[in-house]
Amino acid sequence: MNREDFSMLENNIIYFDNGATTLKPKPVVNAVIDYYTKYTANAHRGDYNISQIVDSKYEEVRDEVKDFIKASRRDEIVFTKGTTESINTVVFGFMNTYLQEKDEVLITKSEHASNILPWLELAKRKGIVVKFIPLNENHEVTIDNIEKVITSKTKVISLAHVTNVVGDIRPIEEIGKLCKDKNILFVVDAAQSIGHLPIDVVKCNISFLGFSAHKMLGPTGIGVLYGKYELLNKLSPIEYGGGMNSYFESSGELEYKDLPERLEAGTQNIAGVLGMGEAIKYLKKIGLDNIHKYEVELKKYAVTRLKEVPNIKIYNANSNSGIIVFNINKIFSQDLAAFLNHFNICVRAGNHCAKIVKEEINVSNTCRASFYFYNTKEEIDALVDALKKQDKIFDIIL
Ligand code: ALA
Repeated sequence: MNREDFSMLENNIIYFDNGATTLKPKPVVNAVIDYYTKYTANAHRGDYNISQIVDSKYEEVRDEVKDFIKASRRDEIVFTKGTTESINTVVFGFMNTYLQEKDEVLITKSEHASNILPWLELAKRKGIVVKFIPLNENHEVTIDNIEKVITSKTKVISLAHVTNVVGDIRPIEEIGKLCKDKNILFVVDAAQSIGHLPIDVVKCNISFLGFSAHKMLGPTGIGVLYGKYELLNKLSPIEYGGGMNSYFESSGELEYKDLPERLEAGTQNIAGVLGMGEAIKYLKKIGLDNIHKYEVELKKYAVTRLKEVPNIKIYNANSNSGIIVFNINKIFSQDLAAFLNHFNICVRAGNHCAKIVKEEINVSNTCRASFYFYNTKEEIDALVDALKKQDKIFDIIL
C-alpha cells in the first residue's frame, strides 16, 4: 500500500521496526522542508506575513489532532516532545499533587518504561503504591483481573492501548467505563496504537493520553498530551518561560496564559507540528480501520509462515496487532538481528524498553518484527527465507 510515497523504501531495505519508529511519507517530509525553505518564522510571536502563516498552520494542526482523537475541545491538545514527555508531565505536573501517600496506581508488567518509571519515581517521592494488574495466559488485561486488584485506594489506572512487545490491544472502552463507575482516573499511553487504531478519548473516558508523532508517520521530537479540560486545567506546567505567561513584574506578580499555551513554554518544534499535521491527513486518507485490518492480515500470515522456521519460538502469536516477537533457540536475539541485517531486514532486538515484561513472557530478550501498512507478504517471505539459513549465522556475523 502506498509504497511509492516512502523514499526510504527505495534503499532496498525491508523495514520491520515500525514499533520503534515508522518511515515518513513524502507529504510529511515536504511539510518540514517547506517550513524551513518557504516560511521559517516562530509561532505566536511575529506580526509579519510568514509568521502569521506559521501561526495558522500550527493551530490548524491542533484542530487536526482534536478531530483525530475525537476530543471535545482544541485547548485539550498540548504539543509535547512525545509520549514520554506527555506521561511525565501528567505524573509530575498533576498526579504529584492529586495523589496522596498510599494511593494506588494500577499498571501492568508489560508497559513500556515511560509508563512505569514516572510512577515508580512518584512512589519514591510521595509514597504512592504502584500495583500490577495480573495478566491472563495470553498476557492480556481483562476487566475481571482489573476488578480483582481495585481497592478503595485505587485512584489511577495507566495503561498502553497497545503494548510494544506483546502487541495486545487493551479493551480501553470497557476500562474507561469501569474507571468512570469507580471514580478512577484513566491514563492511556497511545504510542503504539495512535497510527494503527482509531481512538475516541471521550467515548473511552480517558483522563489523559499521550502519543508520539514519529510512530505514526510524523517527525521525531513531537507528540501530544491530551487531557480532559477540567483535569488539564489543574495541571501545573513543568516548564516556565516565554509563550506561556500573560505578564510578570519584578515584584513577582505574574499571570500565566490559558490552556493550551500555558503548557507550551518556549519555542516549540514547529516543523514537527506541521509534519505531524500532514501525517494525520495521510493516515485519514488511508483509514485507520483499513490499516489495522491489513496489519492483522500480515501478522496472521507471518505467524503461519514463521512456524516453518526450525527452532523458532513465537511469544505472542495470538495478539491482534502487527507486532510479532520471537527467538531462535540458542541464538541471542541481538545476534539474530545482526544476521537479519545482512539480508537488509531491519528488526529490533533486546528488551524493547519493557524491562519487566520478562516476568510475564519468561524471556528478557527477543527479536521483534513490527509491521505497518507499507509492508508486504513478500517481505515476510524474505524474513522466513533468511531465518531458514540460521545455520550460517556465525559465518555471516562473525
Ligand atoms: N518504544 C519504542 C519501541 O518499542 C522505541 O521500540
